[in-house]
Amino acid sequence: MTSEEKILNQINIDEEKPGISKPKQVYMGLCADLIHPGHLNILNEAKKHGEVTIGLLTDKAMASYKRLPYLTYEQRKIVVENLKEVKQIVPQDTVDYVPNLKKYKPDYVIHGDDWKTGFQRAVRARVIETLKEWGGSLIEIPYTKDISSTKLNQEVRKLGITPEMRMGKLRRLLQAKPISRFLEAHNGLTGLIVETTRIIKDEIPEEFDGIWISSLTDSVAKGKPDMEFVDLTSRLSTIHQILEITTKPIIVDGDTGGLLEHFPYTVKTLERLGVSAIIIEDKIGLKKNSLFGTDVPQTQDSIENFSKKIFIGKNSQVTDNFMIIARIESLILKKGLDDALKRAKAYIEAGADAIMIHSKEKEPNEVLEFCEEYSKFENKVPLVAVPSTYSHITGGQLEKAGVNMVIYANHLLRSSYLAMKRTAELILACNRGLEAEGNCMNIKDILNLIPEE
Ligand code: SPV
Ligand code: MG
Repeated sequence: MTSEEKILNQINIDEEKPGISKPKQVYMGLCADLIHPGHLNILNEAKKHGEVTIGLLTDKAMASYKRLPYLTYEQRKIVVENLKEVKQIVPQDTVDYVPNLKKYKPDYVIHGDDWKTGFQRAVRARVIETLKEWGGSLIEIPYTKDISSTKLNQEVRKLGITPEMRMGKLRRLLQAKPISRFLEAHNGLTGLIVETTRIIKDEIPEEFDGIWISSLTDSVAKGKPDMEFVDLTSRLSTIHQILEITTKPIIVDGDTGGLLEHFPYTVKTLERLGVSAIIIEDKIGLKKNSLFGTDVPQTQDSIENFSKKIFIGKNSQVTDNFMIIARIESLILKKGLDDALKRAKAYIEAGADAIMIHSKEKEPNEVLEFCEEYSKFENKVPLVAVPSTYSHITGGQLEKAGVNMVIYANHLLRSSYLAMKRTAELILACNRGLEAEGNCMNIKDILNLIPEE
């Protein structure tokens, strides 16, 4: 036993004698999504210093700086309750430790020393500052180097996710984040891009929250127009490709939802697969893409009929987690703000889990006006926007207006088409492939892009 261990041992022995002194309190923040030996090492050390309280980071806290955990708060709590070192668990609702520290006034906070760099630096500084108020101190444990959570995440992705867990992620996201970002995918490869693309911005990792399976890009990728011609079986084959290699929540563009009598079957099929939501638009007859606006004949459904479709759909789902999102086409079809608001009220009444307001204007004014009026609704559900034409608006501006989800509906297909067309033209023009190389990824990179196992 080292002399340090002897002292620690003594402290704990003294503390256990009633009436002598209360046991020291040790606070440790933890997500507990993927518990690994590095965490257990810190917990072990924590126990040597006193009674361990885990500040279990809530979905909201985690989603604010990383991704939503794989496991729900309740599931993670069960894991932590079963760790022998843990005395009590309290929710930590922010990345910032200060609110909980002020509440529980621990003698020690314990953490891996990896937070000395990166954005957690500031969190660390606030912990040190706050502990000073009651003479507490920070214990830092050398980071366990041979464990990488990125690697662990990759392994989890390889394992996959159950349909139930994936489906429930959308509702969790909507509760945990003020605004979520979804990006279009139309095959396995683009699904993988949405799943794995990650950047570090101002020291914080940023990634997409989920996948939009657009009828436009799913149709165009198959060389077909976006008019409900690509049938459900064919759409399902795209959905399967994406389900197979991703874990993020999926929202399917269900066009008009089809015939009233068919809609329950579509809902049940998607729900069974673990899709989180379907968005249906309030149009009938031959559907054309909304971005044509009034340039092509398009008919809006009656409020009564569309409400009935929502109602029937909601009654046909088996779980509570699947969501039916009602998409309002009034602004697209120039029916005005009042019509859009009237429909939003009726669709919420009929059971819609969220509202999508669509517009094809270059400026966001009509969407923002809708948001303003919508915010006054007594009975509100989350609001979705698709800024394809008013693309200069930022996620932050939409969030401020009260939008809860933004869908980037067609960007991967549009950008890849441009690069592919340019490559085709260059090969023809130069009668060889060399000049197109600048447009192309390295052969070695494409060979290694999808690991074999
Ligand atoms: C889609 O992505 O297919 C949509 C959105 O429905 S939009 O193309 O803007 O109509
Ligand atoms: Mg569509």
